[in-house]
Amino acid sequence: MPDEPGVDQGDAGVGGSRGEQLRGFGDISGGLYVEAQRPQIVLERRPGYRRTGEDGGRQTNSLLGADRDGARQRGPDAGRRHVGRGYLMNGSGSSPPVYVPFGVGRHDAAPPAIIIVDACLARQTAVATAPASADGPRRHGPRLTDMTWLITGGAGYIGAHVVRAMTGAGERVVVLDDLSTGIPDRLPADVPLVRGSAADRTLLDRVLAEHAVTGVVHLAAKKQVGESVEKPLLYYRENVSGLAVLLEAVVAAGVRRFVLSSSAAVYGVPDVELITEETPCAPINPYGETKLAGEWLVRAAGKAHSLSTGCLRYFNVAGAAEPELSDIGVFNVIPMFFDRLTRGEAPRIFGDDYPTPDGTCIRDYIHVADLADAHLAVARRLSEQGGPADLTVNIGRGEGVSVRELADLVGEITGHHIKPETEPRRPGDAARAVASATRMSEELGWTARRGVREMVESAWEGWCLRHPQALGT
Ligand SMILES: NC(=O)c1ccc[n+]([C@@H]2O[C@H](COP(=O)([O-])OP(=O)(O)OC[C@H]3O[C@@H](n4cnc5c(N)ncnc54)[C@H](O)[C@@H]3O)[C@@H](O)[C@H]2O)c1
Repeated sequence: MPDEPGVDQGDAGVGGSRGEQLRGFGDISGGLYVEAQRPQIVLERRPGYRRTGEDGGRQTNSLLGADRDGARQRGPDAGRRHVGRGYLMNGSGSSPPVYVPFGVGRHDAAPPAIIIVDACLARQTAVATAPASADGPRRHGPRLTDMTWLITGGAGYIGAHVVRAMTGAGERVVVLDDLSTGIPDRLPADVPLVRGSAADRTLLDRVLAEHAVTGVVHLAAKKQVGESVEKPLLYYRENVSGLAVLLEAVVAAGVRRFVLSSSAAVYGVPDVELITEETPCAPINPYGETKLAGEWLVRAAGKAHSLSTGCLRYFNVAGAAEPELSDIGVFNVIPMFFDRLTRGEAPRIFGDDYPTPDGTCIRDYIHVADLADAHLAVARRLSEQGGPADLTVNIGRGEGVSVRELADLVGEITGHHIKPETEPRRPGDAARAVASATRMSEELGWTARRGVREMVESAWEGWCLRHPQALGT
């Protein structure tokens, strides 16, 4: 691969999983109004609040005692006993807090429950009707809007785009990210962010339960090929052992859908025109091995525990939906070109004697916004009724672009016309790595919509946002 150093290249309504019925009556400005017949209600400050306060704005255990402040009865559940009334302040404290009344049905429902309310949850619950069964979790297949997806690594480059695509389609999401490479500001203010490791079982149990998670999109991982060669144990621990812990938590919590970020690195360097999902996997570095082992784990857990699973093998990801969401690493070929040009240096091409039309390596580039839409398509498929699904799909465009063509395009778009210099071939670079994108298109109706020009243009905008000097050189 030419990318150096080689970063790879619900069921229940809110709270329904515990058997209660929660229902929102609509947004009313003025505060958060909570009604319940049981005495345990925990309010959590979540989205939009995390940047305030020493703990990032998160506040837990604001326990409201029964009838503590004489809450008034409202809405269709008027007549029920009220536990209390709480107010969520907005992040700055400058605008009126959101006021969301909740009703909790069935006085006789058991067992006692702790109800976690956060602003995102409250807002979304208030606009959605949640006709959950009062006698237990829903048994029928969920509408997508009834689901909550845990997105691990959601503050990362790709994860933030996935969050954007899924929330844009009306999904509820919660992000778990240790912020080792993620950036919280990439997330919309109303998306809950839990800071922590996706391999922390205690935390996972809590997050899965509190947010009534019904599906997981797992992006959190170590992703640098070169680093994986130097630190294979770290990569196996994070990408494989960590994944096993997450899957254990998922199975224990009864979550039924799991989507894994995999990679074209699982294929190694196959000598084929188009790489299909049936092309034998033969990774050539520990990173690719951990992605392949991760797929095995996911599929095996899916089979044993009736999980619907999807493994998405991304090809070369590029571009940004918004400049603020762009990749900050200089690991892939496009940011590497930008980096050299910004410093007034010639972009480097590794090898121009490959058996390709212009002698340079050919790759399949996919816009990150298209990739995010592919996650949504897979999530929808896994959410359909009809039993557990097991999908393994390439996410690419099915079109090859040579490194020299890419360098020319970068020169044109950036206005930096420095002739690339050619270096010797690097070990492990295949002459050609282009996806067959047929399965995604035929089975899920998804195809990439954005071309390479759009990828380079949007990536350049993002680059210039963080490197304003690039415009002046
Ligand atoms: N970027 C690519 O070209 C590419 C290609 C193929 C596959 N992938 C895969 O896509 C996924 C996302 O990649 P990206 O480019 O967005 O990387 P990224 O580094 O921008 O995002 C990874 C996110 O995961 C978080 N994270 C890492 N380890 C964690 C842990 N143990 N617990 C919680 N959070 C953790 C990071 O803070 C970050 O927000 C990875 O699984 C990667 O292997 C990426």
